[in-house]
Amino acid sequence: MRISVETSVPYDAVVWENPTEADAADELSAVLRGKKVLAVSDSGVPRAALDFVTSALNRKGFEVFHYIFPAGEGSKTLATVSDIYAHLLKFGFNREDAVVAVGGGVVGDVAGFAAATWMRGIRYVQFPTTLLAAVDSSVGGKTGVDFGGGKNLVGAFCQPCLVLADTRLFSTLPERELLSGLGEIVKYGVLAGGNLWQTVRGLRVENGKVLSGGQPADMADLVARCVSIKAEVVKRDEKEGNIRKFLNFGHTFGHAAESLSHFTLAHGVCVMKGMIAVQKLSGGALVPELEAIAANLGVDPAIGFDMKELAAAVRADKKASGDGVTLVVAESAGRLRLEHLPFARLEQMTGTL
Ligand SMILES: NC(=O)c1ccc[n+]([C@@H]2O[C@H](COP(=O)([O-])OP(=O)(O)OC[C@H]3O[C@@H](n4cnc5c(N)ncnc54)[C@H](O)[C@@H]3O)[C@@H](O)[C@H]2O)c1
Ligand SMILES: [Zn+2]
Repeated sequence: MRISVETSVPYDAVVWENPTEADAADELSAVLRGKKVLAVSDSGVPRAALDFVTSALNRKGFEVFHYIFPAGEGSKTLATVSDIYAHLLKFGFNREDAVVAVGGGVVGDVAGFAAATWMRGIRYVQFPTTLLAAVDSSVGGKTGVDFGGGKNLVGAFCQPCLVLADTRLFSTLPERELLSGLGEIVKYGVLAGGNLWQTVRGLRVENGKVLSGGQPADMADLVARCVSIKAEVVKRDEKEGNIRKFLNFGHTFGHAAESLSHFTLAHGVCVMKGMIAVQKLSGGALVPELEAIAANLGVDPAIGFDMKELAAAVRADKKASGDGVTLVVAESAGRLRLEHLPFARLEQMTGTL
């Protein structure tokens, strides 16, 4: 399935169930120019993914170098970016050469930022290996690293020249990472409404497998539908004016829960809790439906922190500005609006969500 992402410099996101090396080679060589490629990955990404990309590139005569850093958010730093620059320098990369990010969102954000800034920007490809990266972080061109304890504080908008997602890779994901991606998929269901919302309501996780209507879910179809929504949003608002803010549905309280849990809870799980929390706070639409979806996926729908803790964490978020925070609220599936919540009102609230 091919989705065209029509940003200022358009590119394709290709979602595959089981691509052959020759297919991947054709896609890669169609967008890459130079002779050299640095494949960036982390220690938790299955070696088979890196080998697959490397062999595909070798088929077309590219010289492939590897840079593998320790897995985890802790590696999303300028030090890792600097190390990538050192490799690009050592191997003589020029403006025509490219970077391929083989991994989850951490690899994609770090490698993308290195590519966005090396010689003022060279081509890069996203080869997402987590469900979250496939449906969210690999598309849209946000790249960057954490700084001084703040997430994504340093970064750049820079679109990849291609996204290649192989859904077969999700079979090795730990349940935590699978759920993280599913939380974002539920978010897309609310954003889109209609058919995707119905699909999302029928998702289950059993023994680490995603089921849809009782059958193994067609992950390629599900990912492609989510990527299409993200592509549409990014096309209309590449650099986060207003429309792109809708992608943050569930993220205000989600980020708060994530940081209050000291990142022990997975991002997408927090987004699921955050969607329920914001809906409870703003009238209660879709709360029973979202709670049922969470239960189907084995996620406790309660956010688990009291209002005082949440308010403090929301205030500390980098997306909060001025005297309050912009919430994304769903009136129904497929109908969302932005709502300004002043800190003063948030801090008067008591109890929990
Ligand atoms: N740029 C964006 O638009 C955007 C959007 C959302 C999230 N993000 C960022 O993405 C990051 C989170 O990404 P993530 O959830 O993919 O986490 P991650 O990249 O840390 O990957 C999670 C873990 O899974 C391992 N892994 C990767 N592929 C695997 C596979 N196929 N099988 C088994 N294990 C595998 C990784 O090594 C890692 O240990 C955060 O830093 C977040 O800020 C960016
Ligand atoms: Zn998210």
